[in-house]
Amino acid sequence: SANLKGKDLLTLKDLTPEDIMFLLESAITLKEKHENGEIVKTLEGKTLGMIFEKSSTRTRVSFEAGMLQLGGNALFLSSQDLQIGRGETIGDTAQVLSQFIDAIMIRTFEHSKIEELAEYASIPVINGLTDDYHPCQALADLLTIYEHKQTFSGLKVAYVGDGNNVAHSLMIACAKMGVDCSIGCPSGYEPKEFVTEYAKKVASETGATITITENPVKAVQNADAIYADVWTSMGQEEEAKKRLEVFASYQVNDELVQHAKSDYLFLHCLPAHREEEVTASIIDGPNSVVFQQAGNRMHVQKALLQAILA
Ligand code: CP
Ligand code: NVA
Repeated sequence: SANLKGKDLLTLKDLTPEDIMFLLESAITLKEKHENGEIVKTLEGKTLGMIFEKSSTRTRVSFEAGMLQLGGNALFLSSQDLQIGRGETIGDTAQVLSQFIDAIMIRTFEHSKIEELAEYASIPVINGLTDDYHPCQALADLLTIYEHKQTFSGLKVAYVGDGNNVAHSLMIACAKMGVDCSIGCPSGYEPKEFVTEYAKKVASETGATITITENPVKAVQNADAIYADVWTSMGQEEEAKKRLEVFASYQVNDELVQHAKSDYLFLHCLPAHREEEVTASIIDGPNSVVFQQAGNRMHVQKALLQAILA
């Protein structure tokens, strides 16, 4: 079993391929038990604090429900209500929360903020999305792909759109598991250079390829999975109008998916904007697995919480 006890999950760089495989297998077991109504109380008496500086549906509810199912507690801590919103430092907040609870999940803006929190906290810190990464999402993405394909070997995942936090974590997840990953994005909206470099380095060790291209058709060519995310992420709202134009030719629609394998999976982290990054025909169509993917957030996070805290 992987030794993740007491560890942080700030990015997937923190996990080895073996750790990831362990979490996926553990998630599959927990999911089966949940579906059979079996109760697993491995986190009795444990409390997770969840700090949100941005909106959330899936992350909040999946972490909270997951903790409760494992016999623990979860506290929703809006940054507007915390003293953080009135200027208390991240370092002081981290040290104070460490007196009361067993782990912190945080959704915030700059990735440096979660690094600072982790530095001052004496308890594990889990990334629930930063401007640069969304590692719990990528674990759920891997689980969903694995459930359908039963393997990672020989697969190609294509991400079409903005080279954002979700793209970054997906790229690292694929690299770690030896999955070819192709990002189709407009010039100027590529994944950050240091993330691509890291993913390429890992991929060279696992036998995968990481490709960045401006051509969405080339990105999805022969893909086993096509992934879309919003064109305007949280915090970029004032760029929304411009982004609609920049990304117009990167919509996942009936024409684009013709270039993928016929049994391609459609993935989206959600929330989605129908007729922007993806047409309703695709996200509500037969190849879409987006709700299974959303559900898998909870199962994989339960596996993670158990590995870190039990
Ligand atoms: N995919 C995801 O993280 O969704 P929320 O923003 O609703 O948490
Ligand atoms: N890229 C999106 C993901 C939302 C789950 C954002 O950061 O807003």
